[in-house]
Amino acid sequence: MLRIQRTLPDRYQTASKQALLDMVAAAKASLGERCMILGHHYQHDDVMAFADARGDSFGLSKIAASNSSAEFIVFCGVHFMAESADILTSDRQHVFLPDLNAGCSMADMADIDAVEEAWAALGDHVELSRVMPITYMNSSAALKAFVGRHGGAVCTSSNARAVLTWALLDPVDGRTRADRVLFFPDQHLGRNTGFELGFSEGQMLLWNPRFELGGLDPAGVASSKVLLWKGHCSVHQRFRPEHIEAFRSEHPEGIVLVHPECAHETVVLADVVGSTDAIIKAVEAAAPGTAIGIATEVHLVNRLANEHPDLHIECLDPLVCPCATMARIDLPHLAWILESLEAGEEPNRIVVDADTAVWAKVALERMLAII
Ligand code: 13P
Ligand code: SF4
Repeated sequence: MLRIQRTLPDRYQTASKQALLDMVAAAKASLGERCMILGHHYQHDDVMAFADARGDSFGLSKIAASNSSAEFIVFCGVHFMAESADILTSDRQHVFLPDLNAGCSMADMADIDAVEEAWAALGDHVELSRVMPITYMNSSAALKAFVGRHGGAVCTSSNARAVLTWALLDPVDGRTRADRVLFFPDQHLGRNTGFELGFSEGQMLLWNPRFELGGLDPAGVASSKVLLWKGHCSVHQRFRPEHIEAFRSEHPEGIVLVHPECAHETVVLADVVGSTDAIIKAVEAAAPGTAIGIATEVHLVNRLANEHPDLHIECLDPLVCPCATMARIDLPHLAWILESLEAGEEPNRIVVDADTAVWAKVALERMLAII
């Protein structure tokens, strides 16, 4: 998706690190309680140092929903997270993304036109009232609204199991809410969660939006439980079983923590599978001296290694792939946005249009009610 980030004035691009730290600190102090800075766990340490709250995508959406005082919410994360914050906060609270180019390549793998086409194609073969659309938090507001309109819910990596259970297993008036789900955009989170709930490989089919009927035959669609959109995270898909095998041969007593956006063959070899928050909790619970191999974005892994010198923590991918879009939020952009707010300007405000916001909120609130 194209979003145009204006070039920062020279003074932010040429300032020393110390000067930028001073600018951010001064602007934050001057804005005081009017401004809340939220930081996703994948942010640079320099940026995280200024966050009023840290969290995974679910935790940050709850914090945004429960805050009613801050006038400005500066979201240090990616675009879909800022959109969710805008949807969940009141109209008098304005949400800002310091760099509009901070998107998510996985979220961009499912767009509303492709999902609507898939829905129409499905309707030719199965009863749509028995299909539940579920979108991962990593998706545009338009997709969340689609899901809200069609009776589904959002999920995150920390609650996908609860949301799929609600959709496919919990009985309501003698039957489940749906016969199958269309899960987008992350095939891996959907598949890993489906396996956890006992669905078989044959019940979970990959929907390739480039092909008619997702590349599936009508009988397959009719017998499916989970239709997995062909999307992935290029950071997490890099972690392979051989990385875990290499770690275990060097650290036989060590533990392996893996984010559920990794492929299933990697996830099955892990000791703990969970969201960024779950990974942090597992590190905090480890006994001193434990060797821990982690399959998630490297900024978080490095921060955990620095914060826990009594543990041996390493990123399982030796080539280390940072999330390029998360890393776009840096000190120059943070200084620029805070000083702009201080000067009464509101650049990079994230606004979800009213109709989209109403339905996306329905899908987000369904998720919050399930947990
Ligand atoms: P969390 O929900 O674990 O924060 O993950 C978000 C994300 O984008 C992971 O790649
Ligand atoms: Fe998106 Fe992957 Fe980056 Fe998370 S790590 S924001 S899923 S590209």
